Amino acid sequence: MVTPSASPFRLLSCLVVLLLLPLLSFAADPDPLQDFCVADVSAPPLLNGFPCKPASNVTSGDFFFDGLMKEGNTANTFGVNVTAADVGSFPGLNTLGISMNRVDFARGGINPPHSHPRATETGVVMKGKLLVGFVTSGNVFYSKVLTAGQMFVIPRGLVHFQKNVGEGKALALTAFNSHLPGVEVLPLTLFASTPPIPNDVLTQAFQVEEDVVNSIRSKFAS
Ligand SMILES: *[C@@H]1O[C@H](CO)[C@@H](O)[C@H](O)[C@H]1NC(C)=O
Ligand SMILES: *[C@@H]1O[C@H](CO)[C@@H](O)[C@H](O)[C@H]1NC(C)=O
Repeated sequence: MVTPSASPFRLLSCLVVLLLLPLLSFAADPDPLQDFCVADVSAPPLLNGFPCKPASNVTSGDFFFDGLMKEGNTANTFGVNVTAADVGSFPGLNTLGISMNRVDFARGGINPPHSHPRATETGVVMKGKLLVGFVTSGNVFYSKVLTAGQMFVIPRGLVHFQKNVGEGKALALTAFNSHLPGVEVLPLTLFASTPPIPNDVLTQAFQVEEDVVNSIRSKFAS
């Protein structure tokens, strides 16, 4: 039953819901309003992406990318190499809300706990055996060991990792619903920022002595 006094209120509620609808969109990046907008990466970024290269300058080459063909060099601290095919390296992705990574793992290598603030990630293991896991905002850990052909999904922004638990190298291809998902690699974010987070913040946060913080920092000193 709608009472005469309730109906203006209902109308107002409907209006508010309608106005909010665009904000409830599931797309990570805003939807494009044109077929494409190949990034002019030499121009300074705008509020939300790069300006478009003039259409007369666009060629087939703008829509193809060879950067994921080559294995990355994994001779580093974590035994991992992430090759990004995002708007920075592949300007044709600009405004399209999509990008990929190639992730190479040495034997025992780890893509350490990290998060992508602007995208949900999905991936497929191409070679080897990976333990893939993420932790929810409710602090629940979900994980599985995957072999070639198997997929995973990491909900947007959640902390996750992949670790090579096989006998040889491993390779994964990942995809994101953002042309620039961004990444915060927790060990580096917390212990190797510029300038550094003060030691007393980290000793208090992790409930450890200062020498533990200094020891962790020393592993990432450049
Ligand atoms: C477009 O192409 C012209 C001619 O090759 C070149 O001079 C100009 O710098 C290009 N502009 C952009 C934004 O790529
Ligand atoms: C990843 O591999 C590329 C190509 O071999 C190399 O140039 C780059 O320095 C590597 N990155 C890291 C973090 O090891």
